[in-house]
Amino acid sequence: MKPFRLERLVDNRPAEGVFRVNRALFSDPKIFDLEMQHIFEGGWVFLGLASQAEQPHDFFTTTIGRVPVLITRDKRGVLRAFVNSCPHKGARIASQPSGNARVFVCPYHSWSFSSAGENRAIKWERAGCYAEGFHADDHGLKAIGAFGEYRGFLFGSVKADVPSLEDHLGEARHMLDLIADESEDGVELVPGRVRFRFAANWKMQLENCSDQYHFTSTHPSLIKVLDRRAKEQTADVVESSLGGADFWKGGDEGIVGGSFSFDNGHVMTWGKMEANPSLALFEQRAALLEKFGAARTAWMFNMRNLTLFPNAQVAVNAATQLRVIRPIAPNLTEMETWCLVPRGESATARRQRIRQYEDFFNPTGMAIADDNAVYEECQAGMTDAGNGWLQGHARGLAGTKPGGNDLSNMIGMKAVSSIAGPSQLADETLFQSYYRAWAARMAQVVA
Ligand code: FES
Ligand SMILES: [Fe+2]
Repeated sequence: MKPFRLERLVDNRPAEGVFRVNRALFSDPKIFDLEMQHIFEGGWVFLGLASQAEQPHDFFTTTIGRVPVLITRDKRGVLRAFVNSCPHKGARIASQPSGNARVFVCPYHSWSFSSAGENRAIKWERAGCYAEGFHADDHGLKAIGAFGEYRGFLFGSVKADVPSLEDHLGEARHMLDLIADESEDGVELVPGRVRFRFAANWKMQLENCSDQYHFTSTHPSLIKVLDRRAKEQTADVVESSLGGADFWKGGDEGIVGGSFSFDNGHVMTWGKMEANPSLALFEQRAALLEKFGAARTAWMFNMRNLTLFPNAQVAVNAATQLRVIRPIAPNLTEMETWCLVPRGESATARRQRIRQYEDFFNPTGMAIADDNAVYEECQAGMTDAGNGWLQGHARGLAGTKPGGNDLSNMIGMKAVSSIAGPSQLADETLFQSYYRAWAARMAQVVA
């Protein structure tokens, strides 16, 4: 195979005012294979929440790149993560998305395993005339290379030789703290998950979560509905700061949004949102102010879109959505999404949150379907790799500053770079972090 040259794929010269990404990253099957190997299977990825396996013997399944993964809580309450594959002939031993099982029985020849991954029984072992070499083997499930939890968020790596999870998350962990601090009992998922696919590269989703530039262009019908609701004041759902056309008008509105880039490809974009009674979290505002003070509480109400490279996104506006990106092919991606909630909120707040979630986030809501449609338009236009460089990573380059700013200082969060400004700034420099992390992981194989 002809080696790729990294500088032909990511033109990383911000000091010279240039940062470009090659279209081949979105369409070339050879690049996709290398991404699976070296990005998804070559380092930490997000797996799910600890609350998805709350009780002893609870489990859920997921993937790391192409590797099927089983997460269990054993009888002593310890969370574990295994390659979901039988040592006998490789069958997945758990095919359900989630459940509770003291014992996993392989569907092929009935080898069985405890929720701690130990082999319980090999069918007809005594009559099997196995030789010594076989008995010397461990017949249990293989633990994945690295597995860790940060405040209820679970991460894993197929490869064992990775930095610590704390190092991987770095300063982006402050954003997880803000979410976890919404409740003393942490966060959980509203039961029922949504899974959908779009016919485009996974990096379309990676970028779009932080793409404020598209909002008025891609979601005009949503904006019209929000404006009408605001005018008529008839709706029982009130939207986020991204709501009506007013937010995007431009002019001298001062600083109302911006972004922060962190190490290892993690980024966050934010928009100013005042605490108001239409938000489910508002009922806890007084308690949050008392516990965390004005600065952290104000941050908890801001609109925030966090991406933890390469596969997790938490979008916080009126409601909070957790998104997990699963690449299937260069031009096919599967998404799993959930409504992420603080435990213990009132039934009224929960109801309000779920209505707002459905309104904006679900594929049946008013935003996600628009996004998926434009991803597919991009992919259709991306097939001509010969077209070369994209120009979609340049907005904000002349205004980006190294380090954080007053807003990140307020909560003791450091950033690699930051930018803040009016709504029409719509920064694109934060995407550059993705591609620097992409290039760092791919550098192992791409010359
Ligand atoms: S493949 Fe699992 S028992 Fe044979
Ligand atoms: Fe969108």
